[in-house]
Amino acid sequence: MMIPTIAIKRGAIEIIDQRALPGEYRIVAMRSVAELCDAITTLAIRGAPALGVAAAFGLLLAVEERWGADGEYFFDEDGERAASFAGRAGMDEIRAVLDGARDSIAATRPTAVNLFWALGRMAACYQARYESAEDLLRALHREAVSIHREDRAMSRRLGENGASLLKDRDSVLTHCNAGGLATSGFGTALGVVYAAVESGKRICVYAGETRPLLQGARLTAWECIQRKIPVTVITDGMAAHVMSNGLVSCVIVGADRIAANGDTANKIGTLNLAIIAKRYGVPFYVAAPSSTIDFSIRSGAGIAIEERSADEVKRFAGMPVAPEQAQAMNPAFDVTPAELISAIITEHGVHYPPFNGVWSASAGGSA
Ligand code: MRU
Repeated sequence: MMIPTIAIKRGAIEIIDQRALPGEYRIVAMRSVAELCDAITTLAIRGAPALGVAAAFGLLLAVEERWGADGEYFFDEDGERAASFAGRAGMDEIRAVLDGARDSIAATRPTAVNLFWALGRMAACYQARYESAEDLLRALHREAVSIHREDRAMSRRLGENGASLLKDRDSVLTHCNAGGLATSGFGTALGVVYAAVESGKRICVYAGETRPLLQGARLTAWECIQRKIPVTVITDGMAAHVMSNGLVSCVIVGADRIAANGDTANKIGTLNLAIIAKRYGVPFYVAAPSSTIDFSIRSGAGIAIEERSADEVKRFAGMPVAPEQAQAMNPAFDVTPAELISAIITEHGVHYPPFNGVWSASAGGSA
């Protein structure tokens, strides 16, 4: 089952509104770059690989928004209609609009490198030389669709690679949501679980609730239920308890950015899990596509960590949960040092430490 996390349909970007889950399953359409940026910053769409696809589609949206007309569109998922575009704008004008959209999308969230990776790919595409505006748009559409398609194939392969690490009746603790909702449909950390289940293994999941926005309780548990995988939600503070009692076979988490040495930024609270896992001898795996590895950053110290509004911590569902006068911190991610990571699972295989050098070749980058 692929979750239709994101698609481009008749000139709009359609997403599952992840803010509303699990209470309501609703698809929303975005018709402007500003709407897309709002959806990204408010986490209607989230998760590193899904943000990469959203960014790529966002550049198609910029063209639609500027030159589309009522009842007429240039792009959909299956094909582009760039021919009808002929004569509406010159290539320089198109590139200027795309540059503007790229800057707006790049300013939404700083940590997930996939967003910048996808924007970089799209920019290389529209900055190349073309005979005509029509050719440029065709190439742009093809690149965005490729990014989407590759993401789906990547998570399938990654899942199959990671499934070999799981045994029948294992229980996996995961954090935040690194499932179909965080990608174009299959997932990374949860993709490993799904692939193991598809191969006949009985796996159960512990979903850490993931304060303050509860992606684990709301989204991971929802996905597991859709797939009929037994899931137990725990509050973040219970992780040491369940690991010390031998209830967890391994921890598998996703990643927002992995430095060249393997240090990994992921949802706040991941570092706690890695420390606890080390203490109790539980393997700690990171599952992420190679597009999440940032070879330009040597170690986790160079990763920008998004700081979100203190209100997300001080209020819950509109109700105050801390005195108004109290300060609150809200870093959205933390960095787990490579020394706490047992292996990193990518679409290329399972990479064991040390992560510098050897793994970069197999993961497709250069350290
Ligand atoms: O703030 P979010 O919900 O976008 O954070 C998401 C995570 O931390 C995920 O674990 C990560 O992006 C990997 S998703 C396959």
